[in-house]
This record gives sequence, C-alpha cells and structure tokens, in this order.
Amino acid sequence: MVDVGQITKLAEKEIKRSVSLDVLSKLEIKYLGRNGEINKLLSAIKNIPDEQKKTYGQRVNKLKASMYRYIETRKKELQNKKSGVFFDKTLPGKTYPKGSLHIVSFAIEEITKVFEKIGFIRVSYPEVDWEYGAFESLNMPVNHPARDDVETSFIDMPAHPKLGKMVLTPHTSNGQNREMKRVGKPPIRMINISKCYRPNWDATHTPMFHQFEGLCVDKDISIVNLKGTLDYFAEKYFGVGTKTRLRPHHFQFTEPSFEVDISCNNCGGTGIIKANRCKVCKSGWLELGGTGMVHPNVLREGGIDPSASSGWAFGFGIERVIMMKYGLDDIRNYYSGDIRFLEQF
Ligand code: DAH
Repeated sequence: MVDVGQITKLAEKEIKRSVSLDVLSKLEIKYLGRNGEINKLLSAIKNIPDEQKKTYGQRVNKLKASMYRYIETRKKELQNKKSGVFFDKTLPGKTYPKGSLHIVSFAIEEITKVFEKIGFIRVSYPEVDWEYGAFESLNMPVNHPARDDVETSFIDMPAHPKLGKMVLTPHTSNGQNREMKRVGKPPIRMINISKCYRPNWDATHTPMFHQFEGLCVDKDISIVNLKGTLDYFAEKYFGVGTKTRLRPHHFQFTEPSFEVDISCNNCGGTGIIKANRCKVCKSGWLELGGTGMVHPNVLREGGIDPSASSGWAFGFGIERVIMMKYGLDDIRNYYSGDIRFLEQF
C-alpha cells in the first residue's frame, strides 16, 4: 500500500528546501500536476480495501490541502527574498504619532508674523549680556535703585572693565542698544524675541521665560503710532474687537512710560458675566506689560540724535500673552514636558 505519511514528509521537506521560484513550480507540478503524486495517490484508491477507502481518501485530500499551503507559503518567502521586502498593500498603514510645535515656539511664530506684516524685523539678541546692555544703555546707571526692581542672575566670571559684570538678561530691552547700533540710523523697526531669566518660580513665573521687545525709531514718532501698533497687535493676536489702554507708570528707559492693558475677551471688557464678576480679569482689563516713548538718553546711547528722531518701545512676556489668550492659570505646565498638556495646542 502507498504510504501517504511518507509522501507528506518528503513533499514538505522538498518544498521547504526549494531555492527558487523555478524549483518550486517544478515541485508544484510534481505533486499537484495532472500526473502528479497526489493524483497518483487518488487513483490508487481502487486498490485499497473497501473498509479503508474512506480513511485513505480523507488522508490524501488532507495532504493535497496542505500541499497548496506549503507551496503558497514558500512562494511568498521566495518572493520576499527576491524583492528585499514583501509589501502587502492590503494591510492598513501604520499610524505614526504626530509632532507639533511647543506652545511657546508656536506663539513666537505667530507674534513674529504679526509684526513682520507691518515692516518689523525679527532679531534675537544674546541671553547672556554685560550689565551695560541690560542696564546702563537703558538709562539705569550703576547703583541706580531701579536696578533692584529687576532681579538679576550674575555670571561668575571677571567683570569687563567698561561693560561691567556678565548677566543672564532679565529682559529683552538689552536688544534696544544693540539694534540701534546695528542699524546705525533710523528708521528702526525691531521685534526682539529671546529668553530672559529672573529667579522666580510660581504659577505665573518661571526662572527662564521669553519676552518680545518692540522698538520703533524714526522721524516724528509719537504715542499715536504706539497706540495704533498696540491696537493692531491686540486685534491680530487676541482676536477682533480686543482693545488696549495705557496707564501711566515708570520705567527708566521710557518717558513717558505706561503699562498696557487689553480688554478681557472672557467678559467682553465689562468685568461682569451674568451679574457676577468675571473670574479671569475682575475688572474688564488684563495687564499686558510695559511700554513708553524711548528716553532721550537711551537714543543718545544708541548713537541716535533725540532732537531729530523719536521712538517708542515695549516689552511683553510670551508666556504671559499665551496665558491671557487661552485662559491658562499655571505657566509651569509649559515646561513640565507633560505631553497631555502640550498636545492640546
Ligand atoms: N523691560 C521691562 C520689563 O522687563 C519691560 C519694558 C517696559 C520694556 C517698557 C520696554 C518698555 O521696552 O518701554 O519689565
């Protein structure tokens, strides 16, 4: 009697060892062809005793089915080898995690675009500067008490004989003197965006933060130009209908000086929501930062004649404007690296 088990083993071995698609197709003919081994086994059924015919038939059919499987599997393996990788175009594609800009980088891009549209040039001045850049050039001479208002981190290295100690810049205002000297003469339209450092750590302050500093110097520049630019920025960045207001203040580097507020978009600037005080602003206004007309001493220090040109400047915190725009309450989240927070923006 024909040994089906033996033929099964032999076929499996031969198919597995086949080295090319050609060899494999020969084996396909050998086993599954019209005069192949399987058909020989099937026609041998007439010599099988009646009582064994059923089991025999079942075994041969099973062998035939597995033969198809062996051949198909080996065919795929050999095709893979040939093309390097087997590409099954019916499989669903892989979904890769999608990255996005960090909330601060995104705001920097947005702010830059708003100012570039009206002719401002984006610059980025050093985060580490001499005391001269951070203070003296801004009308804050050595020992001036106003310096204490700006808590500063000093770098542990010998001081420059003329420019003083090295500091981590506590504001972007150091860019003003550098930009005046870089451009040489008005007109100047600068937007300086950079990292700043102050030793504070709470819900609204991180020791490292970002500011954007605007500086505009030209003939006949007045507060009207300043107010117009602030209104333009407020509408573009915070949304149509956002208003600004100036409150008198004091900065060494501007005269007159102001603090800028924007109208709160949560309550529409009324300070009241459904007969209750607005929780975001309490008064209808939110403080944006400092501004003013550039002090003549600052212009002079930058090599600009204050009798021929005038200018305005402002300095606002990036983390702060993001907070105001999205109603966030803890800026420490920005730097927590928590993807659940960051991927919302
Ligand atoms: N440098 C100030 C600060 O960090 C902000 C500032 C106020 C910048 C008035 C200016 C300005 O340019 O004119 O608090």
